[in-house]
Amino acid sequence: MADGIRFFQLNTGAKIPSVGMGTWRADAGRVGGALTTAIKWLVCANCRLDIGILIVLNFMEMRRRCTDHAPDDVPKALDKTLMDLQLDYLDLYLIHWPVRMRKDSFGYKPENVIQPDIPSTWRAMEVLYDSGKARAIGVSNFSSKKLGDLLEVARVPPAVNQVECHPSWQQPGLHAFCKSKGVHLSGYTPLGAPGRWSKNEVLQNPILLMIAEKLGKTPAQVALRWGLQMGHSILPKSTNEERIKENLDVFDWSIPKDLFAKFSEIEQERLGKGTAYVHETFGAYRTIEELWDGEL
Ligand code: A2P
Repeated sequence: MADGIRFFQLNTGAKIPSVGMGTWRADAGRVGGALTTAIKWLVCANCRLDIGILIVLNFMEMRRRCTDHAPDDVPKALDKTLMDLQLDYLDLYLIHWPVRMRKDSFGYKPENVIQPDIPSTWRAMEVLYDSGKARAIGVSNFSSKKLGDLLEVARVPPAVNQVECHPSWQQPGLHAFCKSKGVHLSGYTPLGAPGRWSKNEVLQNPILLMIAEKLGKTPAQVALRWGLQMGHSILPKSTNEERIKENLDVFDWSIPKDLFAKFSEIEQERLGKGTAYVHETFGAYRTIEELWDGEL
């Protein structure tokens, strides 16, 4: 299998593994076991050893808390993370949201949200990149407009924009923009976070089910493989051994062209709208449209 689907190249020259392992909101007591399962399975599957080591051990990626946007707090937050993880550097460090929360506040309450100053925060991120403590820097949940604004002032362009991306929220416009600027798009909730958003169960979409049946794969595998073939890296979350194996078994087969074309027929909806960051009085965004600059 060509390297091209196991890794994607970042604008720093580094390679990002195409399949990572999401841990956000996972039960803390089960994350260690899940990582061990992933490593064990990958080591057993010998030929995939390189991927496992890169995903789990080598490619440490963190998103910075929204309370640590002040330029002085950025290096402190990274130092604390490095100390907690007993590491010398991170492969990738991201601004979590284009949102700033009051320092030392807790929880996503509207009154905690204040005006962000992304260029200042980014300059502090660039210093971390210069120091080698963050081998790549990037953003998360940035619209094309916000990414474009940042690119205009950035000395070090962001390497990654990590956003919600799955068959029911494909973001073709953002993907094309990122590609044109050399920013890698990484997809979180690539399965649509089953059970979390009751209205739209991505893995039960009839088109996805039809493709899965035709290929003899699970809907989850088809959703993940779609992401890889689109050129996104993907970050599925699971603490279940069988599902971790299933989610890693996406390299030795592909979705043929005719079935791949069917994905354009899937109804689109952003599931994680970021409503907690929008308020008529507080913070930077009065409406969801403002937060996403109309990319809804
Ligand atoms: P579990 O940990 O019990 O496997 P996302 O990555 O889109 O945020 O979705 C995470 C959710 O998807 C978790 O609740 C996880 O539950 C579930 N999940 C992970 N892998 C699969 C799979 N292959 N099939 C169905 N559900 C899955």
